[in-house]
Amino acid sequence: MFKVNENYLKLPGSYLFSTIAKKVSEFADANPDKEIIRLGIGDVTQPLAPAIVKALHAAVDEMANADTFKGYAPDLGYDFLRNAIVENDYKARGCDIAADEIFVSDGAKSDSGNIQEIFSADAKIAVCDPVYPVYVDSNVMSGRTGEYDEKTGTWSNVIYMPTTMENGFVPEFPKETPQLIYLCFPNNPTGTTITKTQLQEWVDYANRVGAVIIYDAAYEAYISEDNVAHSIYECKGAKTCAIEIKSFSKNAGFTGVRLGYTVVPKDLKCGSASLNAMWARRHGTKFNGAPYIQQRAGEAVYSAEGKAQLKEQIAYYMNNAKTIKDGLEKAGYTVFGGVNAPYIWLKTPDNMSSWDFFDFLLEKANVVGTPGSGFGPNGEGYFRLTAFGSYENTVRALERIQKL
Ligand code: MLT
Repeated sequence: MFKVNENYLKLPGSYLFSTIAKKVSEFADANPDKEIIRLGIGDVTQPLAPAIVKALHAAVDEMANADTFKGYAPDLGYDFLRNAIVENDYKARGCDIAADEIFVSDGAKSDSGNIQEIFSADAKIAVCDPVYPVYVDSNVMSGRTGEYDEKTGTWSNVIYMPTTMENGFVPEFPKETPQLIYLCFPNNPTGTTITKTQLQEWVDYANRVGAVIIYDAAYEAYISEDNVAHSIYECKGAKTCAIEIKSFSKNAGFTGVRLGYTVVPKDLKCGSASLNAMWARRHGTKFNGAPYIQQRAGEAVYSAEGKAQLKEQIAYYMNNAKTIKDGLEKAGYTVFGGVNAPYIWLKTPDNMSSWDFFDFLLEKANVVGTPGSGFGPNGEGYFRLTAFGSYENTVRALERIQKL
């Protein structure tokens, strides 16, 4: 009889956002007259910017012509996109990253789930708690996390770094030394962030203990404060200890288009093993490159037109964030985030559990959010709302919540 990867059987329940989608769909079926407003999953709602649509059309036309048709993309990405990334996301910020350190992919979720496979099977990981579930779940699938304790909602071989109201949502260095540290700033789910000085301390720590930081910078475009780093490579020494993962989903609305990239610096080594070479080998074997059409759309993100249009789109979502934050505060909620990120993290009222508040909000206001406990035990008692809805829906959702 064949055997399965039993690590999969250890995973409790289903993926957080699948569980929520199922619950919402059941509620919708039972209440066809209710108009549900979805502020749960961080999925964008505004259409692609005109400069991107233009690039997509042009690329489709190229694919329709024998002279300009493209087959397999280079597995690490087209030079036109890798060079645009280097110029705009790194050189412009004083970061010394070369095009052959950029690996274009079909999105940050795939990269953040896959990156763990170039590390040792017994590498100890450290995560913030609460945390984007993909980091932990992908390590569970690889058998790195030990056993799950249902009572505490934790894995025996994972180091958890609480990020809560009590510590200002700034994780402390763990007591036990990790080999891999997952950091996401601006943070999903809390919508909070750390300063560049604090990030530098993490880089110094990782270099000191010989750990690698997997830095998820998916929400970088939402940073509004000057003292927050847009890339971990703004910190000295990051090239010897950090991998950075970036997405086009949140800054350019590519959740349905799919495009992202990962930076693996050539200075990042374990003895003579180059992580850059290993990730290139992995990409070459398991990936045939992000589609040409998407990569041309990605290039348009960095055009003058594209930049101006996306600035407006981000301002639109951040206006929603402000609307939610101000509206909740007016209604007496304790609220975090929403200044450098499109997520609002609120304390549930009257010590309600996160899932009880989810049900309460869905039933009484027909508004969907994400229960904090779905992101880890220290998310219990919190709740996440996204600013990615339309402005009209955001205002209506807040009116309903204020009436509760
Ligand atoms: C979220 O809601 O946390 C994100 O949209 C999920 C994702 O980006 O995969």
